[in-house]
Amino acid sequence: MNILGIETSCDETGVAVINDRREVLSHLVLSQIKDHQIFGGVVPEIAARAHLDHIDALVQAAMREAKIDFDQLDGVAATCGPGLIGGVMVGMMAGKAIALAHNKPFLAVNHLEAHALTPRLITDIPFPYLVLLVSGGHTQILVAEDIGVYHLWASTRDDAVGECFDKCAKMMGLPYPGGPHLEQLAAQCPDLAAAKARYPLAIPMQHSKEIAFSFSGLKTAVRNMIMGEEHTDATRAMLAASLQAVLADTLAFRAGQAMAKFKQLYPQKQTPALIVCGGVSANQSIRAALHAAAQKNGFHLSAPPMEYCTDNGAMIAWAGVELLQAGRIAPLTVKARPRWPLEELKE
Ligand code: KG4
Ligand code: ZN
Repeated sequence: MNILGIETSCDETGVAVINDRREVLSHLVLSQIKDHQIFGGVVPEIAARAHLDHIDALVQAAMREAKIDFDQLDGVAATCGPGLIGGVMVGMMAGKAIALAHNKPFLAVNHLEAHALTPRLITDIPFPYLVLLVSGGHTQILVAEDIGVYHLWASTRDDAVGECFDKCAKMMGLPYPGGPHLEQLAAQCPDLAAAKARYPLAIPMQHSKEIAFSFSGLKTAVRNMIMGEEHTDATRAMLAASLQAVLADTLAFRAGQAMAKFKQLYPQKQTPALIVCGGVSANQSIRAALHAAAQKNGFHLSAPPMEYCTDNGAMIAWAGVELLQAGRIAPLTVKARPRWPLEELKE
């Protein structure tokens, strides 16, 4: 089974062809970061136009690299939401047009479901499993029960963790998107204990038993620390290290609560999987903190390789494989959705 996958929900145009034997036949990502950098964030209108400029050539290149014809496809998958609606429409319409012209099933992929299923592209991870989705727009803990069946256990009351990385990085004068730059800056700090002592930051709502996230308080604390003194390269690195550490601790702490709850609800499940996905899961400190938390709770941590963590076409194509296998083919009348919570997939 060969599936073409198209991703255009944010600032990456991603196109890939994969098959149901988990072989990635082609996987191209065109980042628009440079187009948006001067604005310090993604400009939806610019993103949509850039997707439109590049989508046809990228699809052609991906098909050429995969060495197959459109007739050899078994389905066409495209992100139909959630995301920046202009961009979503570009990729969705391209996918529908290809599906219609070549008489192939169209697979309407929920971008969040694609992130949550990506680790299954690498290896066979049986349902149910716990998912920590950490991206620029989302911070969620959910249980993946089956294709299309997800239970949301936690989300953020304000900013997403990626947003916290990006906004704090911007305040420190780092380019957009801030997450990877902040990680690099933090790596320059030679003494994490000293950084934490100088810039103390606490896990938000640490004493709350509720599994929930909030990052706006940390953002304010970091702003005060930036404004509070004249910074040198060394102090900026210390602040970045302290922030990254508290974000890693926060995710590990909440994931720990969720793992305990999961074990209560699924006591028969042996060494369940904790899956971390979304752009922020590229962060090595966060992976290390989650790895330790998983080990402590008897879980196996599974994180997709870096290139599949940030938005890409392969994860959409893989979600397409799973949807087609589950018989979840979409009518061509399916609409693009700026908001599309995972829990609504059941309907
Ligand atoms: O999943 P993604 O590519 O796009 C969506 O938001 O859907 O995630 C992008 C987010 C950005 O906030 C970016 O700063 C963050 O992922 N990110 C990172 C790292 N790489 C990407 N955050 C921290 N450390 C990184 N290495
Ligand atoms: Zn994403």
